[in-house]
Amino acid sequence: MTEATDLTDVGACAFDAYGTLFDVNAAAERCRDALGDKADALAAVWRAKQLEYTWLRSLRGDYVDFWHVTGQSLDYAFASTGIQDDALRARLMELYFILDAYPDVRPALERIRAAGMKTAILSNGAPSMLIAAVRHAGLERLINDIQSVDSVGVYKPHPSTYQLAVDRLKLPAERICFVSANPWDVSGAALFGLRVVWLNRFSRLPECLPGQAECEIRSLDALPSLLGL
Ligand code: LAC
Repeated sequence: MTEATDLTDVGACAFDAYGTLFDVNAAAERCRDALGDKADALAAVWRAKQLEYTWLRSLRGDYVDFWHVTGQSLDYAFASTGIQDDALRARLMELYFILDAYPDVRPALERIRAAGMKTAILSNGAPSMLIAAVRHAGLERLINDIQSVDSVGVYKPHPSTYQLAVDRLKLPAERICFVSANPWDVSGAALFGLRVVWLNRFSRLPECLPGQAECEIRSLDALPSLLGL
């Protein structure tokens, strides 16, 4: 993996949603008034359990959509931080629908679309969640296709989730650039054969698993030039 190699012969760009385009901590952040010094712990447990439940449900073969997984992982996070508050639960869930986009998202998408390259979201998110987040961030014009794993009934990193991008973009895997901030998603997509850019927003370590990113960037500002646009 390098930091500056050009990604040549890419025909479209697909983005992970949560943690990559949308700030998963934004809901807890907006409830800091009510959560007080439990806000950070709650946000961390909520996200960790949310992912864990996607993997467990995929293994167990009992898929429910990401909205349910998000609610059940919030229930766990409430229990682990000693919070019992139905109104606060409802408020956090409503806010999860309209998470903020990171500031580098719009300028990068604008440059990619201006160059005529197709863009997509490839996410665990339920379609209604993704549509709401894209609308809230005003990105409708900049995202050509919203691809939810809901249509295959299993979560990332199952290969059939990455196959969705191939099927929907009608391009071979090696012509699709997939951008994710989640190291395990990076590894899964690379193992599948997509051209993966790791948006390492949080200075994480790479997974010690087969499947490595082709390039690593710290901000989406670096993506258009990496694509030669
Ligand atoms: C997604 C999760 C993995 O959007 O962040 O698919």
